[in-house]
Amino acid sequence: MATLVLTQSEVRSVLTMERAVVAVEEAFAAHGRGETLMPAKVYLDLPKYDGDFRAMPAYVSGSAGVKWVNSHPENPHRHGLPTVLGMYILSDPATGEPLAVMDATYLTAARTGAAAGVASKYLARGDSKSVGFIGCGVQAHAALAALRVVFGDLEVVAHDRDGAAAETFAIQAGGRAAEAVEAAGCDVVCTLTPSRTPVVESKWIRPGTHINALGADGPGKQELEMRILRDAKVVIDDLHQAKGGGEINVALSRGELRVDDLYGSLGEVVAGMKPGRETDDEITVFDSTGLAIQDVSVARIVYEEAKAQGLGRLVDFLA
Ligand SMILES: NC(=O)c1ccc[n+]([C@@H]2O[C@H](COP(=O)([O-])OP(=O)(O)OC[C@H]3O[C@@H](n4cnc5c(N)ncnc54)[C@H](O)[C@@H]3O)[C@@H](O)[C@H]2O)c1
Repeated sequence: MATLVLTQSEVRSVLTMERAVVAVEEAFAAHGRGETLMPAKVYLDLPKYDGDFRAMPAYVSGSAGVKWVNSHPENPHRHGLPTVLGMYILSDPATGEPLAVMDATYLTAARTGAAAGVASKYLARGDSKSVGFIGCGVQAHAALAALRVVFGDLEVVAHDRDGAAAETFAIQAGGRAAEAVEAAGCDVVCTLTPSRTPVVESKWIRPGTHINALGADGPGKQELEMRILRDAKVVIDDLHQAKGGGEINVALSRGELRVDDLYGSLGEVVAGMKPGRETDDEITVFDSTGLAIQDVSVARIVYEEAKAQGLGRLVDFLA
């Protein structure tokens, strides 16, 4: 038995954002058609360490695997580590043989960004020219790369409560750092903070805006003022996950939003079962919690491409 072991730099070298967007779009389409298996994400909450772990298994189109991933928002300044670190095990669904074990830290960012790209392709105005970021950390970089795959060049407005993070992001993106209200005035807005109180006010949002609400991925997390959710067409990635920890979780638990108010899932939109954006004026929100089907689809292409290029090292874990 030989398992391919891949480091982050090897994953990065084969995982272009173009490939990630295609894989994630296909995963959402399969999800919409009801062709995927994805048991609920398991959370291991560790408040004494200001973090949590998640186990995320999935099966899509002949690929099976599981990601073990955390969210520790204090990591960057306390330990000099990313907020999110992950490992992926990709297995042969016919035998259970582990095909690959790989770093999933970059893979997570790539598939998170790719989901923002895919959601924006279907929900943002086709003539979108600007993107605003609220939260300029690791995931934001990947989201920008994916949006550029979908829309080409975009004007970038960056806001972060850490002014240096916004400046660095803006310089790298060829954009400008600004207040949150300006970032929220863009055609596409991405929220990528671990916040538990709104970072975007409803009065800042113009008609026709598309918001990728990506930061809320656990119970109690929230980035948008509730009124935005009531006024917008809200598309979730997965109802079970979104109810538990997505942008809608706080509004639902307070009775300020009902499941009936939601428009549908991104999978339904990508599979052509429901239209995406219908008018230039509507406000759309993609509530992303991050799905295990995104991970397994991207891990599969990383494995195939790395194998084709002879990257990584083979380990016999049964030795
Ligand atoms: N939806 C998904 O699929 C998905 C995937 C991975 C991570 N996440 C979540 O996305 C969030 C960001 O993850 P990351 O890896 O980019 O983290 P990160 O620590 O690299 O970046 C977060 C940034 O947000 C900024 N920030 C924090 N609170 C803020 C506030 N109130 N206003 C403005 N800026 C603020 C921080 O200064 C930091 O620069 C986390 O909550 C993480 O759990 C979601």
